[in-house]
Amino acid sequence: MRKKIIAANWKMNLHVAQAGELLAQLATIPTHATTQVIVAPAYVYLAQSINQLSHTTVHVASQDVSAHNNGAYTGEVSASMLAQLGVQYSIIGHSERRQYYHEDNELLLNKINRCLEHNINVLFCVGEHLVQRNSNTHFAIIKAQLVHTVFKLSEEEFANIIIAYEPVWAIGTGITATTLQAQEMHAYIRGLIVERYNNIVAQHTHIIYGGSCNAINASELFACADIDGGLIGGASLKIEDFTTIVKSV
Ligand code: 13P
Repeated sequence: MRKKIIAANWKMNLHVAQAGELLAQLATIPTHATTQVIVAPAYVYLAQSINQLSHTTVHVASQDVSAHNNGAYTGEVSASMLAQLGVQYSIIGHSERRQYYHEDNELLLNKINRCLEHNINVLFCVGEHLVQRNSNTHFAIIKAQLVHTVFKLSEEEFANIIIAYEPVWAIGTGITATTLQAQEMHAYIRGLIVERYNNIVAQHTHIIYGGSCNAINASELFACADIDGGLIGGASLKIEDFTTIVKSV
């Protein structure tokens, strides 16, 4: 049986003291043995997060990673630096990075490969814009986002990938995909994994949902057969809400 994964994407939020307080609270959330909680703070809080969570089962993710190994890339942080710190996951392909920083498939695949070279698991985000859903091209869009990136990996490499389906129109808008819409896309993605790899790989792959997932709608979403947890933005910054979400599995 697949574990449920509940990942907090803090994005560019919280001051250092607030981060410390939230980490201390995260450390005390009771979790089932079948639930994996992950937190993705800003780079500057990664070391602190790893320290504060070292005696817990909560894992730490970076929100990004460089596509390069090392060298003259001012401002970048490499996968090897993250790995040495104890970072176990990296979010790659978030729509905010695709949109604001023009990250394309080639760059994303380079970032994925840097992570895999350093044993960092990848939370790979895919998602369609509202116009794409309205023009009924959402399935084709998601397929293309997978085919040109993670589907280029070998079966062995793909075992380190978690897919996060985040419809762009649902991110930070308060408009959540209905359970029907989310489950339909998750099942579609799992079907694509069967086609590309095989059924065993598809049954082992975690596909989590992100986009206005909150304390109220989480349990309904997580109860769907192909939804293996959530990637939580805004609601992960409030400990009461995030605790409820973790308990919703
Ligand atoms: P919200 O939960 O704030 O909609 O953000 C979702 C997200 O982008 C997580 O990566």
